[in-house]
Amino acid sequence: MRQIEIRKHEKSSAHTFKFFSRFFNWFFEKTSFMVNTPHNPTRMHLTRDELDTLVEICEDNGLLLFSDEVYRFGEYSANDLLPSATDLSETAVSLGVLSKPFGPPGLRIGWIATKSAKVMRKLEVFKDYTTICNSAPSEQLAILAIRNKEPILRRNRSI
Ligand SMILES: Cc1ncc(COP(=O)(O)O)c(C=O)c1O
Repeated sequence: MRQIEIRKHEKSSAHTFKFFSRFFNWFFEKTSFMVNTPHNPTRMHLTRDELDTLVEICEDNGLLLFSDEVYRFGEYSANDLLPSATDLSETAVSLGVLSKPFGPPGLRIGWIATKSAKVMRKLEVFKDYTTICNSAPSEQLAILAIRNKEPILRRNRSI
């Protein structure tokens, strides 16, 4: 007969911290490089050359490049829009969100893009374990925002 161990669940910030530190160790099994470009809140961003160099350094050294691009599309000039890191590298992971450049933070809709099947599988497991799915009304409103991307971004860039 199989035995299970029942432990009391201690809900505390220490517990939450332990949970996330375990997640990070599991997710980022190899050394990773994290970058936030464009930067929130300054909107400072890498140049195309700098991004290419960063991708090359990470690939040459076996580093997982985690690129926080939540402010992508929020550049002061649309000409400064850089490719997503995941489009430049087989192993990079790009994080995006609707809340910053599109302006609906309450929807809690974002995305992670990567060509790495292994990383994607891990993310699926984590999503399943934590929040399972998005709110369907939020998804509908997110589609509306994305369909109206140009006027929304134009307005937000001018603020
Ligand atoms: C750099 C960066 N990444 C991610 C997030 C998370 O965005 P959200 O709260 O819309 O999920 C924020 C929020 O301020 C941020 O500044």
